Amino acid sequence: MAFLSDALARIKPSPTVAITAHARRLREAGRDIISLSAGEPDFDTPANIRAAAKAAIDRGDTRYTAPEGISELRRAIVAKFARENRLDYAPDQVIVSTGGKQVLFNALVATINPGDEVIVPAPYWVSYPDMVRLCGGTPVIVAGDLGSGFRITPEVLAAAITPRTKWLIFNSPSNPTGAGYPAVELGRLTDVLLDHPHVWVMTDDIYEHIAYPPFVFATPAEVEPRLLDRTLTVNGVSKAYAMTGWRIGYAGGPQPLIRAMTTVQSQSTTNPCSISQWAAVEALDGPQDYIAEAAAAFRRRRDLMVSRLNAIPGIACPQPDGAFYVYPSIAGLIGRRTPGGTPIATDEDFAGALLAAEGVAVVFGDAFGMGPNFRISYAASEATLDEACARIARFAASLG
Ligand SMILES: Cc1ncc(COP(=O)(O)O)c(C=O)c1O
Repeated sequence: MAFLSDALARIKPSPTVAITAHARRLREAGRDIISLSAGEPDFDTPANIRAAAKAAIDRGDTRYTAPEGISELRRAIVAKFARENRLDYAPDQVIVSTGGKQVLFNALVATINPGDEVIVPAPYWVSYPDMVRLCGGTPVIVAGDLGSGFRITPEVLAAAITPRTKWLIFNSPSNPTGAGYPAVELGRLTDVLLDHPHVWVMTDDIYEHIAYPPFVFATPAEVEPRLLDRTLTVNGVSKAYAMTGWRIGYAGGPQPLIRAMTTVQSQSTTNPCSISQWAAVEALDGPQDYIAEAAAAFRRRRDLMVSRLNAIPGIACPQPDGAFYVYPSIAGLIGRRTPGGTPIATDEDFAGALLAAEGVAVVFGDAFGMGPNFRISYAASEATLDEACARIARFAASLG
């Protein structure tokens, strides 16, 4: 009898987590490493949010909470959905979990039966297909259209739907491409879903607040209210308020689904951290100045990255609408060799050789289901990004 489960054999460790850990080990061993592989803001959590957490500790809010989250936070989430997304959820239609990641995981555990299909547009966040597989489902990968900035077309979505389709996982702005769906384009996808009442939408809105005009963020149930009763709207404080370590994500959805997700949570983590929940109340209800300041800083960095990368022969970098990633193509470098003779046949070869030669850690496109590309997280200082681009340019120029 095998000791490890069959389910484990269906998945692999998160490549982004693995590459970030590898870069950290190299740095600890004394190498000069620039790590642009992790997906987290480099800013500190705003002071008012930190103060709210300290106050929660001092008040003694340090015990188990209701599994679905404290009512103060669920009310703040209801208000946030109404204020920012024009979505009308009641407090019992909202759950708080240990990061958006656990929200997505709970939802899949609560709904997926063997053989159920989940449509995942590529390039995708690395965790979606493996979470589906872990739950016994089948990810159905649909390719984004390179000509229209990695977005999927309504035709491709319609062709992927079968009687077994349970969910479409939707992510805008996207990790890894930064591509966003404007409301009009999103409306064409929701029109397709109206024709298929058995398909639900899991929308991962975690990068909502890192969106660059003229792109304007929109979420599926806002664009098509008739989808509200089969949409799970997932969000969190990690990226919006520089709170990745606090581990708070949340979702709004139909009450039976939220109740099922709460049951899953009650048998796993019980509840998200009480102190972090109080910090999240302050994040959602307190002053919102941080959001615009961070978005402006990320926008300057995006502009820097797009212009610097596009100046490198062999690299082509589309302009993202949001998030803090660029996803340049290296099609122009495939088939070359490093000065030491290592062939660059894939984007994984490229990322490995770049790390070895110049100490720049990026994530290869194959991890996200579409290449040859690589992902840079530009949540780093402009000086660091400048130096990283200089090293990437030197590396590309060294290829023969
Ligand atoms: C697309 C996407 N969704 C969800 C998450 C999860 O965020 P968290 O669990 O910190 O809320 C991430 C984090 O990298 C992400 O990139």
